[in-house]
Amino acid sequence: KKILKKKIALIFGITGQDGSYLAEFLIKKNYIVHGVKRRSSSPNTERIDHIFDSVNFQSKNIFLHYGDLSDVTSLYSIIYKTNPDEIYNLAAQSHVKISATIPEYTANITGLGSLRILEIIRFYKKKKIKFYQASSSEMFGSSKPPQSETTTFSPCSIYAISKIFSFHTVKYYRDAYKIHACNGILFNHESPRRGVNFVTKKIITGLTRIKQKKQKILYLGNLDATRDWGHAREYVESMWKILQAPVPRDYVVGTGKSYSVKQFLNKTAKQLGIKVIYKGKGLKQIGIDAKTKKIIIKVSKKYFREKEVDNLRANSNKIKKYLNWKPKTTIDYLISDMINNND
Ligand code: NAP
Ligand code: GDD
Repeated sequence: KKILKKKIALIFGITGQDGSYLAEFLIKKNYIVHGVKRRSSSPNTERIDHIFDSVNFQSKNIFLHYGDLSDVTSLYSIIYKTNPDEIYNLAAQSHVKISATIPEYTANITGLGSLRILEIIRFYKKKKIKFYQASSSEMFGSSKPPQSETTTFSPCSIYAISKIFSFHTVKYYRDAYKIHACNGILFNHESPRRGVNFVTKKIITGLTRIKQKKQKILYLGNLDATRDWGHAREYVESMWKILQAPVPRDYVVGTGKSYSVKQFLNKTAKQLGIKVIYKGKGLKQIGIDAKTKKIIIKVSKKYFREKEVDNLRANSNKIKKYLNWKPKTTIDYLISDMINNND
């Protein structure tokens, strides 16, 4: 009787939003999942505690290892110890605004991290390892929408510049060393597990707390920027599909629809039963609760970008055509999921 060997996946960034959904997805696909977590002084496994037994530090299908993209010795020993078929590099300093404050760290992790892993894969003897890199629509920067695989990169942040380094490194290792390495160029994707300082989660949490009278004012930055927002739970399937294709290629992943931050704010307010009336312009703009007549939204310079990416909207025809992947979640469902599961 033929015994089917389980595939082994190694996820860098397993404690993040996408890492947690990808781990769930791969476990359902019968993979053995290894994940890399950073040492932290307070718990950082909240998003995966439901699939990982943190008391006994293991479960049947998922194993965690301490490591850091800045520490090549840890990467080397984890890859050799786990002997993966597929590596997903989702680890990054992933906040665009914060990359202006810690630029060197961002370049080191978000840029050089992929290079370190790919060098280990290049010299790996036991088997051919497939590599997925979490590239980003932020790389398109000021290039006009819709953005596709052929759109010019016009980065507006050190985060984007670092991601572009990784993007080209992946292509180079694929062409020069024939490594099965792919970029998924993902547009913004959110979920109840989104980090607290990204705009969608901040809006959902802020307006929910205002409704519960736990918070008075929500401070935001640029309300006019538009983004193509999808749901993280379904985007992780695209990562897996990208790696399963026989020929390694790069793909744009998005919904093809975009909304402004203000539209996202208004849609959230509507679902929470709040009507916002806006007054003023630019930094003086305020949002008033039509029922209580109180100011609940203020614009703060603090949250503006040094150089804004104004408009992102995906053309993801390639992944639809070649890998038969397309998103199903509407923005209204995404918002309701985030409101209803906003722990
Ligand atoms: P996230 O929630 O911020 O997760 C980032 C992950 O990277 C966390 O597990 C974090 O660990 C880990 N990490 C950070 N620095 C590290 C280091 N030095 N060594 C090892 N691990 C480190 O990000 P996400 O939203 O899931 O996004 C996943 C990836 O996709 C990121 O690379 C992001 O840049 C990229 N991306 C995201 C989007 C999006 O809209 N979400 C779109 C395009 C691309 P801790 O938990 O310890 O912090
Ligand atoms: N974070 C934040 N906080 N953004 C705000 C705020 C605020 O108070 N007010 C307005 N914004 C605007 C930002 O200026 C930006 O135009 C937009 O909201 C989205 O900001 P974020 O949610 O921080 O996401 P991002 O688009 O900068 O970056 C995310 O998406 C990229 C893909 O395009 C991150 O997930 C990146 O890691 C990812 O690569």
